[in-house]
Amino acid sequence: MADTLPPETNTTLVHRYRRLLELSRDLASTLDLDGLLQRIVQAAADVCAAEAASILLYDDVKQELYFQAATNLTEPSMRGLVVPMDSLAGWIVRNQKPLRINDVSRDRRHFARISEDTKFLTHSLLGVPMVAKDKVIGALEAINKKDGTFSEEDLEILGVLGAQAAIAIENSRLFQQSDLISEFIHELRTPLGSINTAAHLLKRPELSEEQRATFLQTIQSESRRLSELATSFLDLARLESGRVQFRTQRLAPYTLLQECTSVMRLPASEKQQNLTLEAPEDLPEIQADRAKLKQVLINLLSNAVKYTPAGGKITLSATADAEELRICVRDTGRGIPPDALQNLFQKFYRVPGSERMAQGTGLGLSIARKIVEGHGGRISVESEVGKGTTFTVHLPR
Ligand SMILES: Nc1ncnc2c1ncn2[C@@H]1O[C@H](COP(=O)(O)OP(=O)(O)O)[C@@H](O)[C@H]1O
Ligand SMILES: [Mg+2]
Repeated sequence: MADTLPPETNTTLVHRYRRLLELSRDLASTLDLDGLLQRIVQAAADVCAAEAASILLYDDVKQELYFQAATNLTEPSMRGLVVPMDSLAGWIVRNQKPLRINDVSRDRRHFARISEDTKFLTHSLLGVPMVAKDKVIGALEAINKKDGTFSEEDLEILGVLGAQAAIAIENSRLFQQSDLISEFIHELRTPLGSINTAAHLLKRPELSEEQRATFLQTIQSESRRLSELATSFLDLARLESGRVQFRTQRLAPYTLLQECTSVMRLPASEKQQNLTLEAPEDLPEIQADRAKLKQVLINLLSNAVKYTPAGGKITLSATADAEELRICVRDTGRGIPPDALQNLFQKFYRVPGSERMAQGTGLGLSIARKIVEGHGGRISVESEVGKGTTFTVHLPR
């Protein structure tokens, strides 16, 4: 077949396959999922000479398809956007077949909201399924051929890239999971050990009622810890595998802050802590996943309550400028030593001595950071030992 092509086309084809080969090495060595997806979409746009490319992942639990990466993904709101299964991408995933369309506007399956949301018009589209171990994990799409229309050769090249991408994504997910799972199992040992010991001791006949009650108490609280560990672990595993969808909506931050304050009112008052909200009611609206953002703030507020002694003061505040919305959780608690600050967002990390103040899993901040980053934002922290700590959530407007 190749020798019937004009020589210059032949060279381009070789060139393109060489580029693909380089890429496959590159992809195989990237285990960080977000970085990997970004490279895949760049490569797809590149090898197909397309204006843009995007990846949609398929959640086989919810049976939904959602946006996860794109070369032109400027709006964080696009990430996690659920795409209907009867769209073009949905067709590719359902049929596990590629699709090449030169004028998308004439196709009823085109999901117009994407164009509305991104202000990016799709004219021509080339899409392939990403299949790993017989399971379809999503679709890879090249959008708008720069000159002319997508060719049979483009389709072949993108098909190869899609297959490589699927394997790389699956590997990265497995790697992250095995890493996380071994840490998780390690963390299970402590509470399981305590439960086991307490249960053994309970069998002794000579125990006083009081001792018995103490051991039962241990079993109860350690079981609760196990269940918290499991919940947080699943949350984090889903966030890390990129399987979590962010359901963003426009929301008024002030009411959300009020809600968080009222949830935390009781736990704070149980420790005689003074919890206040300091924010203007007319904070500008932001685009965010309400439930997840609430989870972040409750997490930070619970930490403030946990690691601040009785009688302390906790303040939830917010300000906004043209670029970002900043939400601060400030406490007058034990503070965090400088050398611990750098480990703070690591999985399972707890500052030494924390277990004496409160129960915890050391996963809360990792989860919070993943969620905030999923919104295109970041979390910063300032702290002084013995004086208190301030966590700030920065969200782009
Ligand atoms: N407001 C705070 N003041 C002091 N230390 C904190 C504060 N928030 C978090 N930390 C420290 O960071 C660690 C990690 O927090 P997190 O991931 O939420 O775990 P957990 O709350 O389960 O202990 C905590 O164990 C604690 O040592
Ligand atoms: Mg916590």
